[in-house]
Amino acid sequence: MSAPLSLPELPDTVTATPRPTVYIETYGCQMNVADSELMYGKLVAHGYAPVDAPDGADVILVNTCAIRENAETRVIGRLGELRRFMKPDTIVGVTGCMAQRLGARVLDQARHVSLVVGPDGYRALPALLDGARRGEKFTATDFDIEEHYEDVVARRFEGVKAWIPVQRGCDYRCTYCIVPFTRGPERSRKLADVVREVQQVVEQGLSEVVLLGQTVNSYHDGAHDFADLLRAVGTVDGIRRVRYTSPHPNDFSDRVIEAMATTPTVCEHVHLPMQSGSTSMLKRMLRRYSREDYLECVARMRAAIPGLALTTDIIVGFPGETDEEFEDTLSLCREVRFDDAFMFKFSAREGTPATRMPPEWTIPDDVVATRFDRLVRTVRGISRENNLGRLGETMELLIEKVARDGELLQGRSRDFKTVMVPADAARIGEYLTVTLTGTTGATFTGTPVTERRERAPLPMMGA
Ligand code: 5AD
Ligand code: SF4
Repeated sequence: MSAPLSLPELPDTVTATPRPTVYIETYGCQMNVADSELMYGKLVAHGYAPVDAPDGADVILVNTCAIRENAETRVIGRLGELRRFMKPDTIVGVTGCMAQRLGARVLDQARHVSLVVGPDGYRALPALLDGARRGEKFTATDFDIEEHYEDVVARRFEGVKAWIPVQRGCDYRCTYCIVPFTRGPERSRKLADVVREVQQVVEQGLSEVVLLGQTVNSYHDGAHDFADLLRAVGTVDGIRRVRYTSPHPNDFSDRVIEAMATTPTVCEHVHLPMQSGSTSMLKRMLRRYSREDYLECVARMRAAIPGLALTTDIIVGFPGETDEEFEDTLSLCREVRFDDAFMFKFSAREGTPATRMPPEWTIPDDVVATRFDRLVRTVRGISRENNLGRLGETMELLIEKVARDGELLQGRSRDFKTVMVPADAARIGEYLTVTLTGTTGATFTGTPVTERRERAPLPMMGA
């Protein structure tokens, strides 16, 4: 995620000395967005003023992703660019997964960086910044299995939904994945703490929450599982929509599916990472399920939840991928008929088991490119067919923002469809019922069918 995130405007506190300003630029997944909100919260509590742009900020933090090589290349480039916004005393820090992965190596690669802080080190940020101001440089990359930043009040970005981390780290060891190395072991927040945060979010005027975790449905706080969490969050007064991302297919117990099916606020959409449609490939990826297991999981969910939308993640060109294995991925896409998919070319990450596979298993770039194109065409074709079949349907949208064209508004349905509607910008944050009138294949246009206004007020947050 690199699209600019903006902070809500707040009345300036009158203080004798101007507060030091902090700008955080966020890359990667929603967990990183949520972490940036925590960092802003922590720093605001220590007297910093958040700003929307790097120009002249006293502190610039780049919250990074390490999942694929190109994510890191972009950050290295951006760190160079940020130099021109620095004042002589500006402190630049690198946080997140790339900071965790590279540690002190970041300090060598970018001499203007003073701080390298991994995902479990944000509590120390104010102290580290004080040290950096005295000219010291720091690397803080220890894992802390207890860390949930429970006492930190997130300073949320503007928007109509709240991202709520419920679990940190990952105990799976998929052989391509750097996350277990960058985010450490899995741990869950206490259910009561999550519910309290959701209640606060409602008080701030939001009615949609997205529960976040690396394998979010393996959530367990010692007393409650993910089914309990869905029910507890889904019945908080004022909550209208609950989503979560990303689950692991192996952790969809019948209890979890039942909780989804019987909690009306839980939306009819699951992002269910598949990675590959081939059992032999899934074995090499250490995904711990077969093609048949994945299909069985999809069938159980679809039987329990009518109208369920499914999206997925797929990797192309993992070591040793044969033509046959790739065809299995295409055929699984055709069989499941995903609503959409994020598709990735395999990227070797230093230290992961995939890098120790025989070198002759490496798939040549041109083969990866051809397969990737075929996969994209297959997935887009299916999603286009699905979407054409939805025209004429009526659905409820939560209006999220002004669309990119600057005229229409953009909203989301419960089943995660993006719909553009002609309406006044004052309607951002409202629920609107529309009829789908057109589709580009990927997104829809719609017209409002009711003039009844139901306002979910926009957030008002204290510093
Ligand atoms: N190369 C390519 N894609 C990857 N992902 C994770 N690690 C890699 C990698 N090394 C993808 C997976 C995961 C998504 C978040 O990123 O599909 O589900
Ligand atoms: Fe990575 Fe696998 Fe954990 Fe997901 S489940 S974060 S892909 S190791």
